[in-house]
Amino acid sequence: MKEYFAFQWHITDECDQRCKHCYIFSEDSSRNTDAMNWNQMRDTFYNCLDFCKVYGRLPYFYITGGDPILHPDFWRLLSLLKSHELPFTILGNPFHLNDAVCRRLKMYGCQKYQLSLDGMRETHDWFRKPGSFDCTLEKIGCIKRAGIRSVIMTTVSGMNIKEIPAVIDTVTAYGADVFAFARYCPTSEEKDTGISPKEYRELLDTCYHIFKKYEAEGCSTYFNKKDHLWTLYEYEKGIFKIPEDAKDGIMYGGCNCGNCHMTILPNGDLYACRRVQNSKVGNVYQDRIADVWVCQMEQYRDYTKFEKCAKCELLAYCRGCPAVAGGKSGNFYAADPQCWKEVI
Ligand SMILES: C[S@@+](CC[C@H](N)C(=O)[O-])C[C@H]1O[C@@H](n2cnc3c(N)ncnc32)[C@H](O)[C@@H]1O
Ligand code: SF4
Ligand code: SF4
Repeated sequence: MKEYFAFQWHITDECDQRCKHCYIFSEDSSRNTDAMNWNQMRDTFYNCLDFCKVYGRLPYFYITGGDPILHPDFWRLLSLLKSHELPFTILGNPFHLNDAVCRRLKMYGCQKYQLSLDGMRETHDWFRKPGSFDCTLEKIGCIKRAGIRSVIMTTVSGMNIKEIPAVIDTVTAYGADVFAFARYCPTSEEKDTGISPKEYRELLDTCYHIFKKYEAEGCSTYFNKKDHLWTLYEYEKGIFKIPEDAKDGIMYGGCNCGNCHMTILPNGDLYACRRVQNSKVGNVYQDRIADVWVCQMEQYRDYTKFEKCAKCELLAYCRGCPAVAGGKSGNFYAADPQCWKEVI
């Protein structure tokens, strides 16, 4: 079985919201939006397939935006994916979903549809727009009825950290299939995530017990411990153990940057990670992704450069979130600002 390679593909910036924290609009909420045209989309798709052929990987596409459904060639792209028998995930908004649309998505091979929930009603609607909270919860049912897995993602910051337990209760009550959270990555506007390391550890501890309680009750929601600092938490608790046969120099887990994902923007820019500001490594209209991977991407795989993690026994399993670190300090290899571990 070949290893998957994930392409987070932003086909358009077009969006019905202008969220306060969004990396697309943080610098200028009225900026012109980019979108790929059909020829560019088709060429990009084959560039990705070429990459996977060269490196023996299986492509997996996370189609996103903006709201990807607003792209005029959205369905045409899904048809192209289907013709190659490539299932995919959509990261989008709730506003243009209904039962018929969800059934159509399923027919084209959509496995998961990810929606965002950034707090309880007042907070979420403040980040996003009035009515967004209720619409998001309502559309979980549409997605599920079509046989697609509904994923709820929360972007955690100082603004909503206290509401996460209530968010978990809400998404489990609405029957979301997967719940995860990731941290706000500082953009040029707001440099601080507003969370101390102690507060973040407390959040993981609280969530760990809530997840356990729901699992014991037979709750069907899968809690995806996406943030790599979960490894630190579970290591301290004795739940995660460093394998005895682990070999030096091999990255067994942790941040995927430079290992198994890349991001493509609507203007063709290829990024090491969408969350890492200024991580442009090429442009898919001009560059062969397979070449970029061994040239420009090399700078994201110098594990000895991690200022704190390189001295930590969890280097091969964690590395925190370099996007959060880089957003705060400008240095991808700086210490994760929420990592609470003392490393000497
Ligand atoms: C760019 S959106 C596209 C999909 C859809 N429009 C949505 O909001 O879910 C994908 C994810 O990126 C998250 N995101 C946007 N800006 C971010 C930032 N500065 N730091 C961390 N996550 C961010 C959003 O909250 C959302 O969960
Ligand atoms: S809905 Fe998604 S893409 Fe649109 S502004 Fe909000 S986070 Fe950004
Ligand atoms: S120092 Fe780095 S590898 Fe170690 S726990 Fe912190 S973030 Fe993870």
